[in-house]
Amino acid sequence: MQLAKRLDKLPPYLFVDINQKIAELRAKGEDIVSFALGDPDLPTPSNIIECICQAAHDPANHRYPETAGLWELRQAIAEWYEKRFGVILNPDKEVLPLIGSKEGIGHIAQCFIEPGDMALVPDPGYPPFSMGTILAGGEPYFMPLKEENDFLPDFEAIPEEIANKAKLMWLNYPNNPTGAVAELDFFERAAHFAWQHNLAICHDAAYTEVAFEDYCPPSFMQVAQAKEIGVEFHSLSKTYHMTGWRIGMAVGNAEMIDALFRVKSNLDSGIPQAIQRAAIEALRGSQNCIAEHNAIFQQRRDKLMKVLAEIGLKARVPKAAFYIWAEVPQGYSSVNFTQKLLDEAGIAVTPGLGYGREGEGYIRFSLTVPDDRLELGINRLSNWHRRDK
Ligand SMILES: Cc1ncc(COP(=O)(O)O)c(C=O)c1O
Repeated sequence: MQLAKRLDKLPPYLFVDINQKIAELRAKGEDIVSFALGDPDLPTPSNIIECICQAAHDPANHRYPETAGLWELRQAIAEWYEKRFGVILNPDKEVLPLIGSKEGIGHIAQCFIEPGDMALVPDPGYPPFSMGTILAGGEPYFMPLKEENDFLPDFEAIPEEIANKAKLMWLNYPNNPTGAVAELDFFERAAHFAWQHNLAICHDAAYTEVAFEDYCPPSFMQVAQAKEIGVEFHSLSKTYHMTGWRIGMAVGNAEMIDALFRVKSNLDSGIPQAIQRAAIEALRGSQNCIAEHNAIFQQRRDKLMKVLAEIGLKARVPKAAFYIWAEVPQGYSSVNFTQKLLDEAGIAVTPGLGYGREGEGYIRFSLTVPDDRLELGINRLSNWHRRDK
């Protein structure tokens, strides 16, 4: 047996490694409080679950789905975009349901990247942006997201020959892992830069609905020319706590949507229809769950920010996304500080280095931890700090 060489370029997926470590410790009887994964702990709202149960009994949903998804789902996605962002989408040409947005994010590189091509990728960033590029035979060019630039890429700093050579640019706001946000003027600058260099933009908007106080994150699709140069990936995972059901969407430029459809229709057979029916209910039904979830995440954010300040870990208060991106104390790397928290406090976090070289010096806390576990985690952090002094 001989495995393809491209696999040599793929590191193990960040969370496979972290989950394994936590599982090993738990198997030894250790009680680990995990702030590592961005997977909402609160259940999927009951109207959505009921819809899945009903749809599961309907024989029409027992057969192969179409890659393009149900027309009614594409229509519901278009309606949601109009209601939420004021963006008009053609459900036949500008909307494609996905088996979770990660699937589409990985596959779209196949539409643009030839061996040796480049994609501009944020660093730190959600790993599938660069891994999709590498699997397509391309090379990521990492755009540093620096704290002094509010974790936005500096387009001016990208060398001209790289910008001209690149085919795609990835953006993601509200951002994982930094919790940073971008405003419409940033997206306008990104679109202008993409025009100048004949780049396609892929914006990952998975976290636009996870926001605090009265902050309301924009969509890249609100930029006047967005549909001419880009697509946006969105997800029901974080908005409706549907990570287990696997459903998301790509919207925007019709040619890009068609290219992604062509790749996908040759590789997958769509999203189970009962889940598509549930997604229609999620998008068209009551949206109250979003504010309810956000109020809970906001309380958790404030509690965790308080203890981080007490124990001397610096972090910005995130306006959106359920992550806190904290600086590790001087003298530690992100990996050895993560290990220290695990060994000495029984707390799991994600080391910043896992998101790219620029993530060094940071750790990520996710707020998707049940309240009682969060309290336990906070107490452990305080006690550990007292002992460690
Ligand atoms: C930035 C970002 N994009 C996309 C996803 C994937 O979401 P989905 O569940 O839709 O595949 C995640 C999941 O953590 C994410 O953090």
